[in-house]
Amino acid sequence: MASDPDIFPEDFCFGVATSAYQVEGGLNTDWTVWEAQGKLKEPHVRCGDAVDHWNRFDEDLRLLQHLGAQAFRLSIEWARLEPESGKFDPAAAQAYRWRLERLVAAGIRPVVTLHHFTHPTWFHETCPWHLPGCLPRWETHVRACIELARGLDVVWVTFNEPMVFLLGGYLDGQMPPGKKSGNEAGPALENIARAHVLAWRLIKEASPSTPVGIAQHLMAFAPDRWWHPLDQALCRIADSQFNWALLEAFSTGRLNVNMPGVMRARADLGAAATMDYVGANYYTRSHLKFIPGKPFVRMAFKDVSKRGLTDIGWEEFPEGFGLMLRQLKRFHLPVWVMENGIDDRRGERRPGYMYTHLKELLAARAAGVDIRAYLHWALLDNFEWLEGWGPKFGLYGVNRETMERIETPAVPYYRALIRTRRLVAP
Ligand code: BGC
Repeated sequence: MASDPDIFPEDFCFGVATSAYQVEGGLNTDWTVWEAQGKLKEPHVRCGDAVDHWNRFDEDLRLLQHLGAQAFRLSIEWARLEPESGKFDPAAAQAYRWRLERLVAAGIRPVVTLHHFTHPTWFHETCPWHLPGCLPRWETHVRACIELARGLDVVWVTFNEPMVFLLGGYLDGQMPPGKKSGNEAGPALENIARAHVLAWRLIKEASPSTPVGIAQHLMAFAPDRWWHPLDQALCRIADSQFNWALLEAFSTGRLNVNMPGVMRARADLGAAATMDYVGANYYTRSHLKFIPGKPFVRMAFKDVSKRGLTDIGWEEFPEGFGLMLRQLKRFHLPVWVMENGIDDRRGERRPGYMYTHLKELLAARAAGVDIRAYLHWALLDNFEWLEGWGPKFGLYGVNRETMERIETPAVPYYRALIRTRRLVAP
């Protein structure tokens, strides 16, 4: 008997994602300094108390339980554990442990990210990613995280979207440390790749069966002028270097990233097969146009399908999700969708976005991709890196005056899906 194409199996894991800086509040990181320097699109915007998730963990745990979430992705903020270089805060480690224990006790699997864009304020001055001194410091941080999670059944994500961090932090300078230097970007990526392998090794030593991987941003690319060979070439380069090169590096053990005229990174990572799963974050497609002179490329989002751009101005392109997922088959690993979501300021489009994307996910599964989990970005409205508080990615909106959590129509939609395992159009 043919199986129902709209049914998710019982062992498929549904969950939601967050990152520390975007929701916890009360943090002092390199990003806090960046904001104070007026570097965001709107220079007066601050993350501040974020959505006070740090103090409202129990309330937010009840939201997870209401949804029926089976996994919750969070990150550990390095700046909390080691606010000053070499000075550790045991209370912060305990507080994270308490959170992980609360999740496990509630039957919700913690998916824990070690690096989600932010760093302690001292990091870039004392041991930046492009210098070898970063690795021992990273090792200390990873050991502290392993220790605080000891004995708990977690999934580790070493780096969130390392290529996005590299572009923002080292090439276009839109994120701290704000560099625009191909010469430094190369060594930075080499060290980040080594840092992943190091974390993988340390976690495996502590607990061989614990899954380790990265969350890779996968973006669909299309030529701005479909007929233009240079736009087509840009898409080929972006797809191979931005989407796949790092996943290939962790699969083969050899890093080889080449963005002609921009940066080059090559390293023998000393170990192959350092991912237990492929983590995929997918949001949209972008159109690339060749422009003479650096950075050679202009990126635009076009409303090709006439669904209307999302509120942040991105194309809604579920077909790209399917395309990316099907390509993951070649890694022969389980796939965890670590992020997928929409900036939907009126809360009306999210169920439809989830439906079309999950339909693609089911089709990719049927085509043989071993997709085990889908984590929606995000549980709560959160601080968006470049745009601040305008975008609304949360299943729950947040009134930032009162910090009240407000259910959007996607909550009953997702809840019913998780309960029934059947994907239906909203
Ligand atoms: C990041 C999230 C971010 C989301 C929406 C992802 O690239 O991992 O931190 O909020 O996209 O922009």
